[in-house]
Amino acid sequence: MKPYFLANWKMYLSYDESVALAEQVRQDVSSNGPETVVFPSALAGYRVARIMEGSSVKCGAQNVAWVEKGAYTGEVSPHMYRDAGFTHALVGHSERRHVFHETEQELRQKLEAVVGVGLTPVVCVGETVAEREAGQALSVVEAQIRRLVEGLTLPKDAPFMVAYEPVWAIASGAPCSPSDAQAVQTMLRNVLSQTVGEASVAVLYGGSVDASNVRSYIDEAGFDGVLVGSASVKRESFQALSQALAHRS
Ligand code: PGA
Repeated sequence: MKPYFLANWKMYLSYDESVALAEQVRQDVSSNGPETVVFPSALAGYRVARIMEGSSVKCGAQNVAWVEKGAYTGEVSPHMYRDAGFTHALVGHSERRHVFHETEQELRQKLEAVVGVGLTPVVCVGETVAEREAGQALSVVEAQIRRLVEGLTLPKDAPFMVAYEPVWAIASGAPCSPSDAQAVQTMLRNVLSQTVGEASVAVLYGGSVDASNVRSYIDEAGFDGVLVGSASVKRESFQALSQALAHRS
């Protein structure tokens, strides 16, 4: 199976920069490259989705509302993203949890809304540095994933993605070691098989991934792919990641 390369552009790029990068990504995409999903800003997203039409590159939402429509100033719903041609949505990214103080109840509602419209969720989980130093990484992440997925009904074989992103490794230049990440991955796969075992589950790593370290998460640690922020917002580093993840015969 091809690895997943999810590119989270966060709020790094202007509209013009997003369009330019999307056009370059579309030009550079190769048939033996990874399964690629870009997560542009909501503003640039509609245009980026048009640029990717007819290519293998998909588009995902960085954040969604949990209701379809109504008096929710500033929000964009999963229905609206789906209608604009998006296929994926992040839920519970650490910046949403820690900067915007989204609660687990809100995240659960968002997850249900995403699944309800047929978008593929990318559920993000991860511990803080204090939790890791206290030896609580596994228990904290296990509690996070259980609260989000227990009792969730998913269609058989529905795609379901989980990204392990330690908070301290995001945008820090200090990635989690492949072996520490693998220990969390093993726990996540166990919990997911007990809870959403009917779904088609992929487990990704995220946090300071670049072209120099990406293969270790796939080859050594056995992740199904990666979620990348800052190394995905320039053509050269995006291309280097794609090449590192390309199929090797
Ligand atoms: P980073 O971000 O690659 O810049 O560490 C990853 C993420 O937040 O998804």
